[in-house]
Amino acid sequence: TLERLHDALLKSPLSAVKAKYRRAQCRSGMYPPKGPTFKGAVTWYTVNLDLPPAKRWTDVMSDKKDDVSVSSRGKSRHDGLFSEFGVSACLGQPLLLDTLPFPFNEEIRGISAASGVPLGEVLLFNIFYEVFTACTSVVAEDSNGHLFHARNLDFGLFMGWDVRNKSWLMTEKLRPLVVNVDFQRNNKTVFKSTSFAGYVGMLTGIHPHAFTLTMNERFSLDGGYIGIMEWILGKRDGMWMSFLTRSVLENATSYEEAKQKLSQTKLLAPAYFILGGNQTGQGCVITRSRVLSLDIWELDRTLGRWYVLETNYDHWKEPLFLDDRRTPAMKCMNQTTRANISPKTLYDVLSTKPVLNKLTTYTTLMDVSEGRLESYIRDCPDPCMPW
Ligand SMILES: *[C@@H]1O[C@H](CO)[C@@H](O)[C@H](O)[C@H]1NC(C)=O
Ligand SMILES: *[C@@H]1O[C@H](CO)[C@@H](O)[C@H](O)[C@H]1NC(C)=O
Ligand SMILES: *[C@@H]1O[C@H](CO)[C@@H](O)[C@H](O)[C@H]1NC(C)=O
Ligand SMILES: *[C@@H]1O[C@H](CO)[C@@H](O)[C@H](O)[C@H]1NC(C)=O
Repeated sequence: TLERLHDALLKSPLSAVKAKYRRAQCRSGMYPPKGPTFKGAVTWYTVNLDLPPAKRWTDVMSDKKDDVSVSSRGKSRHDGLFSEFGVSACLGQPLLLDTLPFPFNEEIRGISAASGVPLGEVLLFNIFYEVFTACTSVVAEDSNGHLFHARNLDFGLFMGWDVRNKSWLMTEKLRPLVVNVDFQRNNKTVFKSTSFAGYVGMLTGIHPHAFTLTMNERFSLDGGYIGIMEWILGKRDGMWMSFLTRSVLENATSYEEAKQKLSQTKLLAPAYFILGGNQTGQGCVITRSRVLSLDIWELDRTLGRWYVLETNYDHWKEPLFLDDRRTPAMKCMNQTTRANISPKTLYDVLSTKPVLNKLTTYTTLMDVSEGRLESYIRDCPDPCMPW
């Protein structure tokens, strides 16, 4: 019956549309960002790591308070960003908060205090990113061995569809919360990240001149829910994935050190870590189960592998045919060629549908040796795939 379902879906109009997009033309000339798929550049904030954790996010939150509380406290109780998570009433979150590692627990407390959003909702906002993010990430090396790392962050699947606006409610609410953060110690940048106001983990970041890192969700039967349930029930030997990426961005000083930590730390849920270094050959996709690294797929000059690209499927398996962002993205990477890869052409690849879709919240481009991170809020007006 599964096969029959698969066949039926293949014949459905939806898959015809998908097939159309698979044949879609690669975009070009999209950069510098403009037009209807570009909703604005992302604002920069500084977070001072020398401050006590509860004070670090005060500036960001006082600026974004309205967006956060509008999303959190929409017209009806069920209109809110954080209340999309529904379960917020039933977890006894303050207790759960106490189990989270320092400094994340304190930072979450500070965010709640500065924004007026109840602690439990901020907490859930922080937890549920861990398991609902679809994305496309790519690390590529040009002909001179110069590395670039780029990503689309897609978020909000199945969290409510706005029929009138033909958009995902959650994605709409998140766009105003996208921020670029410069994390400093002694007034010097330690790392930079594209994030969401109110979120303390990291999904996208650069440790300038050393490495770049993004995280994509990995769906698996042994998925996030089990690990998170275990955490709630008291078995707490795994690490939250986005806390690991944050701690790696903050503390690791080289590609090799980052790679080792990302592949060897026990996690609460499976994930893909996409890591770029600062010299030729340093780029990989680490496919993680909760316990171990299943595979490390690296750049390889001898094999002509000048980029590694990850969506939300193991690279050695076919992507789900209804969600194939990998084939068009790779097609466009191949068409671009190694000689022409740059932040500009990576933006083109990430602007090609359905790599760009209605869940796409932001696009980030990183250049490790320049220490540069730039990001853009995205939109995908019709015709555009919902995911
Ligand atoms: C739908 O779009 C309109 C016009 O752009 C906007 O004013 C409204 O807030 C949108 N609705 C939601 C739920 O985002
Ligand atoms: C950081 O810079 C500010 C203003 O330039 C200065 O007041 C402060 O003392 C500096 N802090 C450190 C730790 O150097
Ligand atoms: C690359 O990173 C290593 C480890 O952080 C550092 O020692 C080296 O100087 C970096 N190289 C460049 C070219 O930035
Ligand atoms: C892109 O090129 C790689 C390496 O030559 C090849 O394995 C892959 O099938 C190509 N993908 C597409 C979609 O063209």
